Amino acid sequence: VDTPVMGELRILVNGALGIDRSTGRIVGTSESSGTPAKELFEHWTGQQVSEADIETTGLLADQFLMPGFIDTHTHAPQFSFLGIGHDLPLMDWLNKYTFKHESEFKDPELARKFYKGAIDRVIRNGVTFAAYYGTIHLEANRILADTIRNAGQRAFVGKVCMDANSPDYYSESTAESIEQTEEFIKQVLGGQGNCPADTRLVTPIITPRFAPSCSSECLGALGELAKRYQLPIQSHLCENPSEIEFARQCFPECTSYTEIYHKHGLLGNHTIMAHCVHMTAEELVIMRDTGTSISHCPTSNFTLGSGLADIRRFVAQGIPVGLGTDVGGGYTPSILDAMRMAAATNRALIASRRLSGEDLSGRDGVPLEAAEMFFLATQGGARVMGMAESLGSLDAGKLFDALVIDLSAHASPVPSVESTFAISCLSDPVEAWRLRLEQFVFLADDRNISRVYVGGNLIHSKC
Ligand code: GUN
Ligand code: FE
Repeated sequence: VDTPVMGELRILVNGALGIDRSTGRIVGTSESSGTPAKELFEHWTGQQVSEADIETTGLLADQFLMPGFIDTHTHAPQFSFLGIGHDLPLMDWLNKYTFKHESEFKDPELARKFYKGAIDRVIRNGVTFAAYYGTIHLEANRILADTIRNAGQRAFVGKVCMDANSPDYYSESTAESIEQTEEFIKQVLGGQGNCPADTRLVTPIITPRFAPSCSSECLGALGELAKRYQLPIQSHLCENPSEIEFARQCFPECTSYTEIYHKHGLLGNHTIMAHCVHMTAEELVIMRDTGTSISHCPTSNFTLGSGLADIRRFVAQGIPVGLGTDVGGGYTPSILDAMRMAAATNRALIASRRLSGEDLSGRDGVPLEAAEMFFLATQGGARVMGMAESLGSLDAGKLFDALVIDLSAHASPVPSVESTFAISCLSDPVEAWRLRLEQFVFLADDRNISRVYVGGNLIHSKC
């Protein structure tokens, strides 16, 4: 199952998929109906293969294969206060919990002990590719990057930059911010030889925390580093009204929050801006014209009370959108939870607009469907990460970052087919799977994620 296009679920019942172990890429997919693997491989590749070189694995009746989940925005150190402080608005939450706990990662020993558990938790939830924020500390970030690579997960990892308006106990000089970012880039890239960007497991990402935490000099230098090393960029944008006001006070010469990043060369088709809850029409035009992507973080937007981001509007304007868990603003590293929260956000927006008598013609009034959430969690996320050609679906040529889902797993929250009368009465298997997938989107959790593959390698298995 995959969704190469938003809203279009592609379901292959009794399908077969081949992977080339030497590249980690998908070589083909077909209806299988008992065709021998050797025959399928020769059909896909046009080359002779010997039986001895082929290894086969089958799926059970209530299992399916799908692309891995992509988390386009999360904070690895913030797993240390998961589920705490969600009654506070953003700026109070940052000051009371976030900066304090992140500052503790100045101790590399803590990073060594802590990050392994956090990353395992993300992988167990089926995330094959994530954009992580670390902390300001070079050594702890290096440990984070090594931990991820050793676990076999694909990731962007950012050294957080904070050289302005930050607490004394958690800030750095402008020179430190820039030099340590470059040092981190060299360490991460240097540790992985010269492999091409799409097969490199861990890629550094330029990470100004948000405009108010950086000086103009720092932002400009980070834009230069991104260009020089051809690296992606991530930050936060228009999350909460007080934060927007803070950003505007810090950069009074800019006409909007978005303009601050634009002016410093930080927007473009390799930039991911998280939240974007309160964007003006002018700001969305800048996003579209620069090709900048949005990480929709609905769980965090609900828990910190930031607001409702209108992703239908972003999509209509041609701005790439994916999902982010934003741990620990969000309380869960599960992209399935993010999918459901995206649906809830969309329903709440439609309901409030209907109440206020707004025009809901076109797509504006159409509830987000399960297939659209599935897209945001996979192919949409791949586009946001600038990797749409290599990841996000099960097309031949793409890297095999995938999940085996077991809807009948032990203690599964998804009910059996027999007890789901809406499905057990159907005779068309594709229609039955369509409803089964709706149940997956709304009910499943990590108990249903049986196997996790990245680049063809099995990195997590339930059995
Ligand atoms: N804005 C600046 N820093 C943060 C952070 O850590 N989390 C969220 N949600 N917003 C931020
Ligand atoms: Fe965040």
